[in-house]
Amino acid sequence: MAEAEVGDDIFGDDPTVNRLQERVAELTGKDAALYTATGTMANQTALRTFVHQGHEVVAEATAHVITVEKISAATLSGVTYRPVAGERGIVTAEQVAEALQPDTLGLRVVDLVAVENTHQVGGGAVMPLERLREIRKVVADAGLPLYMDGARIFNACAVTGIDVSEYAAEVDAMMFCFSKGLGAPIGSILCGPADFIEEARRVRVQLTGGWRQAGVIAAAAMVALDEGPGRLHEDHANAKRLAEGVADAVPGSIDPELVETNILFADPSPLGLTPAETAERLAAEGVLVSLVAGKVRMLTHRDVSTRDIDDALAAWHRISSN
Ligand SMILES: Cc1ncc(COP(=O)(O)O)c(C=O)c1O
Repeated sequence: MAEAEVGDDIFGDDPTVNRLQERVAELTGKDAALYTATGTMANQTALRTFVHQGHEVVAEATAHVITVEKISAATLSGVTYRPVAGERGIVTAEQVAEALQPDTLGLRVVDLVAVENTHQVGGGAVMPLERLREIRKVVADAGLPLYMDGARIFNACAVTGIDVSEYAAEVDAMMFCFSKGLGAPIGSILCGPADFIEEARRVRVQLTGGWRQAGVIAAAAMVALDEGPGRLHEDHANAKRLAEGVADAVPGSIDPELVETNILFADPSPLGLTPAETAERLAAEGVLVSLVAGKVRMLTHRDVSTRDIDDALAAWHRISSN
């Protein structure tokens, strides 16, 4: 980062940002890419580019674009949603087809279908490539674009062995985060067709996301691309170890079989504790967890070692025996 060659990205002349964008376009097989500060900014840039004000996005009901971002979508772009309830965040092509039926008054218009892979609230669930293909067909038949919030797509790649370009080939545009599992301190990227990215570049400025010497952090994103994807299986193994240990400490709180990637949700009700009380007790033991979707969320990444997992499990055992 200290040695990064920089320019002014507003003029498109930051060489490190340009190299990163070109590398990601090549990696995903898309025409072009646009570096953004956050995953939310990448999603909101895509939504504003694809969706007319007052029109809708079909997405899974617990998707990040709906639960966390609906206020941004409403405030920034007047975009609203048609939610579909998936199984651990994964919807079927039939559900999407159903959601694309015109309403009886013909007043609601859908401009985009969005999927999330892996699905965060779904517990890091991977959308199978075949399912994505089925959805792709339904969406293409309706003449609509398909967008993928692939914040953690490399976690899906690590589990399935499928190349990121194969997932990317099934969607018109997608984003992924260099932060999160890949380990960069900041940054995400949107990729898609050349004309879409050209418009997205303009939209990103509207959303106040134009920046100058972003090469400093693009350099960290380069390292994340070099080193991140190849070590995600370690996070997955740690997540499995954590899930099995929590299931042992608090039987009935979690099904380790469902933990496919680096995210796990535990229901502490067998302890007679609410998620908030559990978080408080774990924090007193030096273990920090989040509260998401009414459960205790734990997540593994490059800064969490197997030793840390064992320490966390010791804390779970202590709170369950008190
Ligand atoms: C699936 C998904 N999409 C998008 C985001 C947004 O990323 P950021 O926090 O960088 O805005 C997140 C963040 O947790 C996420 O889990």
